[in-house]
Amino acid sequence: MPDDTKPRQPPEPQPRSVPPRPRVKLTIDDREVEVDAGTNLLEAARAIGVQIPHYCYHPRLSITASCRMCLVEASNSPKPVPACQMPATECLVVQTRSAIVKEAQRATLEFLLLNHPVDCAVCDQAGECKLQDYYQEHDAQPSRLAGPKIQKEKRRVLGPLVTLDQERCILCTRCVRFMREVAGEPQLGVFGRGSHEAIDTFPDKPLDSNYAGNTVDLCPVGALTNSDFRFTARAFFLTATPSVCTGCARGCSVWLDHFNGETYRYRPRENVAVNGPWMCDVGRLSYKPLVHDR
Ligand code: SF4
Ligand code: SF4
Ligand code: FES
Repeated sequence: MPDDTKPRQPPEPQPRSVPPRPRVKLTIDDREVEVDAGTNLLEAARAIGVQIPHYCYHPRLSITASCRMCLVEASNSPKPVPACQMPATECLVVQTRSAIVKEAQRATLEFLLLNHPVDCAVCDQAGECKLQDYYQEHDAQPSRLAGPKIQKEKRRVLGPLVTLDQERCILCTRCVRFMREVAGEPQLGVFGRGSHEAIDTFPDKPLDSNYAGNTVDLCPVGALTNSDFRFTARAFFLTATPSVCTGCARGCSVWLDHFNGETYRYRPRENVAVNGPWMCDVGRLSYKPLVHDR
């Protein structure tokens, strides 16, 4: 007999089965690829080893499609479309290396470099800079600017760990979106208009989040620099060894960058089970006592 003295329990929630996303077949640079419907063209191309240049796109951030570096030709559009934003659809035909795409990439780089200082010789990012890399790959032409370049602040201290060179910034807004969407501390914004637009903090509010250092890793150029690392070593001399952060017991995965027996920095190493692609600033600086106070 059922025991009526016990309160009735609500039924156990049943695990909801997520229906698999439909798959679509499309053609990218004359090669067929099958991906989940809705996958963007940039990721679909990556799946078959085709790298589409990009600045503002990052798989962990919202998509703004603002830099226009990833323009490709797609059979459902009369004009080039941003590959980071365009979803893959059945029977779509995509060209990533046509003459129209190459001209779009060249023109985008020309605009990005219009007021860029090109001070690579003293830039911390030289050797790991997407502006340098893509310029060599997709533009490689001298500037056609006749007048002087617009000058902005070269050394703007945003907070304890991050220094900004506003002239080098290409306004991809990765740093702004990271602080808002991942760190949950919207401490950065875009200020000004047109060629005078610049990244900055809000009045009297420094970039002091414990996750601010991730913006330096996300910045595709040498605009945001790690104040602890800047001017201490050239990035291309460093060797990256996989390691584990010494900051706390969580044990985030890191790259330990070293040269000549000396450690210069920790950078986050992607580990979906622990830290994703990020790390905190306390951990980022925890290499110092190991190196200097032994
Ligand atoms: S951001 Fe890149 S292109 Fe600009 S100065 Fe630095 S290394 Fe050179
Ligand atoms: S500072 Fe770097 S990450 Fe931020 S908008 Fe400029 S280029 Fe992009
Ligand atoms: S990466 Fe697609 S528009 Fe910037």
